[in-house]
This record gives sequence, structure tokens and C-alpha cells, in this order.
Amino acid sequence: MTAVQQVPRSSFMGYPRLPTVSLKELQHIPGTGRGFLVDTAIAFIADPLKFAQERHAKYGPVSRAFFTIEPGVLILSAEGNEFVLRDRAQNFSAHLGWEPILGKLFPRGLMLRDGDDHRFQRRLMQPAFRKEALASYLDRMTPRIAADIEDWGRRPNFKFYKAIKHLTLDIAADVFLGLELRSEIDQVNQDFTAVVEASLAVVRVPLLGQKYARGLAARRRLEQFIAERIPARRSGNGADLFSQMCRIETEAGERYKDDEIVDHLIFLMMAAHDTTTSALTTIAYALARHGEWQDRVRETARSLGKMSPGFGDLDSLQPIEWVLREALRMYPPLPSIARRAIKDCEIHGYRIPANTPVSVYPLFTHRDPQWWSKPEDFDPERFGAARGEDRHPFAWVPFGGGAHMCLGLHFAEMQVKAVLTPLLQKWRLSLVPDYRIPYQLAPIAKPKDGLPMILKPA
Ligand code: HEM
Repeated sequence: MTAVQQVPRSSFMGYPRLPTVSLKELQHIPGTGRGFLVDTAIAFIADPLKFAQERHAKYGPVSRAFFTIEPGVLILSAEGNEFVLRDRAQNFSAHLGWEPILGKLFPRGLMLRDGDDHRFQRRLMQPAFRKEALASYLDRMTPRIAADIEDWGRRPNFKFYKAIKHLTLDIAADVFLGLELRSEIDQVNQDFTAVVEASLAVVRVPLLGQKYARGLAARRRLEQFIAERIPARRSGNGADLFSQMCRIETEAGERYKDDEIVDHLIFLMMAAHDTTTSALTTIAYALARHGEWQDRVRETARSLGKMSPGFGDLDSLQPIEWVLREALRMYPPLPSIARRAIKDCEIHGYRIPANTPVSVYPLFTHRDPQWWSKPEDFDPERFGAARGEDRHPFAWVPFGGGAHMCLGLHFAEMQVKAVLTPLLQKWRLSLVPDYRIPYQLAPIAKPKDGLPMILKPA
């Protein structure tokens, strides 16, 4: 079945008007209806974890709330994650869930597609994420990483988040787009950053929101930049993701059209960049605070006998996998995942009417004491076979689940290993005494202060 993809009819403050439910239709669900400012902008943005935990304590796993400008339903449970993300009965649309948030700046990205169209587009993209492709991306990114981190410890007022963000942007320009000229990399990175910033803007009307207008203009420049290069990439033999997408062809001769390549690439850069940057930042902070884990990861890295891992080495870096899982548990880059019901359905005894915006909440289930012992503690060993705390398959969902499960999760894991292996062999990470990271957990988890860090030779 293909879910109906309604075209937004008109908009308010730049948010599309989609078929919606009234507050009255959600009266049978416990919760609040005080409106956008009180429910979402203040409480959610201020502290998304506290917001969810307080709601759960007060209303239970299903509650009514305002997201953006309309009422919706928040689902706070591992069962709820499974029900919505696995979506066996095809009750939900990802397109209609993400459209109000990402639709204008990242239109037609893979995550914003549903049903048969989504399946087709995703299947076509798979070869660009297979082992051979990943191995070539790794070979491409490791020299750049080694060169970049070389002087990190000698930079005055070093801030980890800033440095890693810059590095991951450069990696994306190279591995995703195959760019080599510094001037081109800088221009693309600047435009891409403007698009991402605009997607996080609250005011989405170009005349009122400068940030938003800049983002739309930057998106147009990126579209043109990519489109102009498609003919050469189609006929060339580049190993970057862009070139691969230009050449992918099914046995039946199906290929991506030019405008699909443009939309997918801009979306992929967004999906890959802030998420991996967020994960690496959380890991660096956690390792700086937990010296025993930093030593353990460093020993594992040194056991390779070389600065950077090759593709065949990745499986031997298991402590990094646990550390990554634990970082994503505590601070999932996406604290919540959006959908919209396209049929009436039921969860935890509550009827969710068709057209209701629905959010599931990894940040909540990742700290739910029902599944995790001492959920506030950084304890990567909980993912080891001996402890096996990961009991419910949908309690830990930083990469989502079901048909839209993150396509780049192996890429992300590979990039984390590619950065940590040389970084910890070269530098010892530490923090000023009593420092606690001021996290901004939404819309994407990141430190408010850039994460100042002290790096000494390891
Ligand atoms: C730690 C890093 C990452 C995290 C936490 C993450 C998280 C997610 C989540 C939660 C979703 C599902 C959203 C939904 O169900 O609506 C998703 C989808 C997606 N991610 Fe990631 N992501 C990460 C890295 C990456 C990377 C590196 C890439 C590409 C190289 C990528 C590409 C995608 C794509 C293409 C989708 C859409 C899949 C679909 O709709 O079929 N992600 N990601």
C-alpha cells in the first residue's frame, strides 16, 4: 500500500497545513492542550528529557500535547516505539510526520517518503551503503582525519564540538560529494550549514525569518552546484557517494533521475552530519570523564599497530561499539521521531484518530528504568553479552527501526571508529575540574558551549 502524500494546502508561519485533528477529537487521551508555546517551545526545548519524564509520571505512556501549531500525541514506551516504527499495519506516514519540520529545506529526502515510493528509492540507494562502498569511503576519510587531528592539542582554547563539526563537514564534502578544491568545499559547507540552521529555525517565513531566507537561498545554490556536476559523475568512475548514486542501475535498468540525486544528496548530508557530530561529541565528553574507558579504547586502538583502521580492522574495535551505543543511549542525537497517523489505530488502550501527529521518544525509553539499570550512569558494559540489558528490541532506538531505520548506521559506526582510533592514540582528553557539559538536547543533541577540552599527548 502506498500512503497518500497530501500536498500542503496553505501555511501558517511557514508550517504547511496538513489534514489534522482537533483538540476535541483527542479529549479521551490524557494530557494538556495549552498550546504551542507552553507545551512545546518552552517545556520541550528547555529540557526534553524532563518534559517527557514529567508527562509520563503524570499521564502515563500516551498523552496529548501540542507539537508545532497543532495537537498531537506523545508515545513514551518501548512497545510504543515498536508499534509506530515497525508499523506492521501501516498506520503511519513518515512523510506527513516530517513534512512540517523538514519538508521545505529537505524535500523528497528518503525519510520523507512513504510506501512503494520509499521502498523503491531506498532499494536503489542500498548499493551505495554496501561493504565495498563503505570500505572505499573509509580509505578516503582516514588520511583527512589523521591530518586534521594532528594539531588539535596545540590549538588555543580548543573546543571539541567545533573541531569535530568542521572535520565531519570536510569528510562529507569529500566522501559524499567527491570535492577536492578547498574553495568548493568551503562554499558547499557554508551553504549546507545555512540550510541546516534554517531547518531548526522556529519562524519559517522568509521575510520575517532571516535565517530561514538564507537557508532557502543556500539550498537553491546547493541544488545548482550538484545538478551541474551530474553529467560528469554519470560518465566518470568516482568512488564518492555522489558518483555511485549517479551510476547505480538495477537489473531492470532503473536509475535515479537528476532531481532525485540532488534531493537525496542534500538530505543525506544533513542526515549524516549533525547526528555523527553529536555522537562523537558525547563520546569525547564521556571518555574525558571516564578515564578507565578512555584507556580501554586507547589500548584497543593501539593493538591495531597503526594509526588508522582499515575496513578489515573495524570488527576488532568492540569497546568503541559499546561506547558508541552507550553515548547514543544517553544522548540520542534525535530525541524524538515524528509520524502522522493515516488511519485510526490503538496503542496502550487509547485510540489514535487518523491525521494525528504522533511522536515516539528515544530519549525517554533510553532512560527508562524498566529496561536499564542505573540509566543515568555512563556504563558501556551494559551492552556486553554478559549483561545484555538491551532486552526489548525497541527500547534502544537511536537509529529508529522498521522501514525507515537509518540507512547510514554502519557508516556512522565506521566514522566513529575512524576518528577515535587515531585521536586517542595521539591525544589524552580531559576537562577542566568540575566541568559539566551544558547539553541542548533538542532538536539535535549538542553542547551549548562548544565543549572546551584539554588535549595532552597520549
Ligand atoms: C549517529 C549517527 C546517526 C543517527 C543517530 C541517525 C539517526 C537516524 C534516525 C533516528 C533515522 C530514522 C528516522 C525516522 O524513522 O523517521 C534515520 C534515518 C536515516 N538516516 Fe540516519 N542517523 C545517523 C547517521 C546517518 C548517516 C551517517 C547517514 C548517511 C551516511 C544517515 C542516513 C540516513 C537516511 C538516508 C535515513 C532515512 C532512511 C529511510 O527513511 O529509509 N544517517 N537516521
